[in-house]
Amino acid sequence: MSIEKSRALSATADTSRIESPVTVKAYFMCAFAAFGGIFFGYDSGYINGVLGMRYFITLHTGLSPTLLDNKDTADQFTISSSRKSLIVSILSAGTFFGAIIAGDVADFTGRRTTIIIGCGVFIVGVILQTASHSGLGLIVAGRLIAGFGVGFVSAIIILYMSEIAPKRVRGAIVSGYQFCITIGILLASCVDYATENRNDTGSYRIPIAIQMLWAIILAIGLFFLPESPRYFVKRGNIPRATEVLARLRGQPRDSEYIQQELAEIIANHEYELKVTPQGSYFASWANCFKGSLWQGQSNLRRTILGTSMQMMQQWTGVNFIFYFGTTFFQALGTISNPFLISLITTLVNVCSTPISFWTIEKFGRRPLLLWGALGMVICQFIVAIAGTVDGGNPQTVKAEIAFICIFIFFFASTWGPGAWVVIGEIFPLPIRSRGVALSTASNWLWNCIITVITPYMVGADKANMGPKVFFVWGSLCACAFIYAYFLIPETKGLSLEQVDRMLEETTPRTSARWKPHTTFAADMGLTADGTLAPEIVGDIERKGSAV
Ligand code: BGC
Repeated sequence: MSIEKSRALSATADTSRIESPVTVKAYFMCAFAAFGGIFFGYDSGYINGVLGMRYFITLHTGLSPTLLDNKDTADQFTISSSRKSLIVSILSAGTFFGAIIAGDVADFTGRRTTIIIGCGVFIVGVILQTASHSGLGLIVAGRLIAGFGVGFVSAIIILYMSEIAPKRVRGAIVSGYQFCITIGILLASCVDYATENRNDTGSYRIPIAIQMLWAIILAIGLFFLPESPRYFVKRGNIPRATEVLARLRGQPRDSEYIQQELAEIIANHEYELKVTPQGSYFASWANCFKGSLWQGQSNLRRTILGTSMQMMQQWTGVNFIFYFGTTFFQALGTISNPFLISLITTLVNVCSTPISFWTIEKFGRRPLLLWGALGMVICQFIVAIAGTVDGGNPQTVKAEIAFICIFIFFFASTWGPGAWVVIGEIFPLPIRSRGVALSTASNWLWNCIITVITPYMVGADKANMGPKVFFVWGSLCACAFIYAYFLIPETKGLSLEQVDRMLEETTPRTSARWKPHTTFAADMGLTADGTLAPEIVGDIERKGSAV
């Protein structure tokens, strides 16, 4: 399509017409990217098992395997805490920086390309880890580099999926990403379980190397998927934006629907650029922190909302169960197979997540996050009180485990997917890639902080809180409830551009009642013959090509 033709984009003032109808094939295309969640889950899950593998321990302690073969002595030998902490936490360091940098790369080369680059970086990291033997060098460098790749993938997948998904099912499709995270965690436990008793390097090399498969599948799949049309609008390339939008919606390029959807994205972008003009590289980063703290629509407020949302998700304490569950269940005593219980919590996580595909679109983001936080508070206080009052009783321990499973159910069906869905929706296009990247980096930062702090709260030689640690998680979930009530807006059923307007016109508490009443195209400039004012398209093309 020529630029001249693209300038005559037909546009609409009808708020129900700002998104094209979608074919089944197009739905599948949008959902495929969720596969990237497998990386996230597998990568955070597999290392727990590997660190406990006897062969891996012999390599890192220099002990003879025969000492480890002896059941009486084997449990005494583990890799030193400092080594363990370095091997585990270096991944979060890589993901933190990877996520932040990915935002820039996504604006420069595109969302899809950034994810493919992330897969490449990740594969290099995995090769280094697989090649590692006894020293720390390769495993640490490998996890740092792989972490970088996971950071790229985890931040930009959310951005990509939110930008390409049809508004009616955007929440469900992004929840699919969380579902894949849970499958990744489950897969990691299964692979670790299958290889842990091998007496060769295969015991740890297989679980590490298998991850390359996820990266290869994702990269090849994405290669055939279209780029995000919103990226091309940001770059001022309207013909390409039209082309990819038509592919994504399964419609002809000159369909009126495609034209109207595109016109709305362009008009919204023009509006946003008027509110927050783009400047130099540093100025555009500074834009993420501009505006008043007291106005819900300001960039600063949106950045705080995204980063704090992910912080709250980590504060729920869910990773206490996934990272330290086995040792915690062991310490409760009276349980014969703590590994099995850990596996059950992982399964509850997988099976509960799909419920959110339906509830997040039916009831909305706000109710889900509010009820989820309440459910988690109740379960955690029950576990804490029961464990404190009657912890030695095997029946009480069983009840504690049941409530831990119900807690996981509440997390997996609400805050697990909800936090990712919301961060993909709240940022305006000029700062979206960086906003989502900063929010994802916050997830990894708090993930890391909690992983470092937790052993001090529950370690037998430290605070040794036992089940009382659930008073801490329960209180933090109570904060999440209050936070959700006052700060989380309802974004269900709105296009990303309508979310922008809703944030301007409502408060989180009144947001659910807000209805779109006008389009950006109508506000910014609709000509008498129903097309978007040509100077708007021209302006976007000029500004985009200057980036
Ligand atoms: C969280 C992870 C957590 C996982 C559990 C994700 O949404 O960000 O930290 O391990 O859910 O399913």
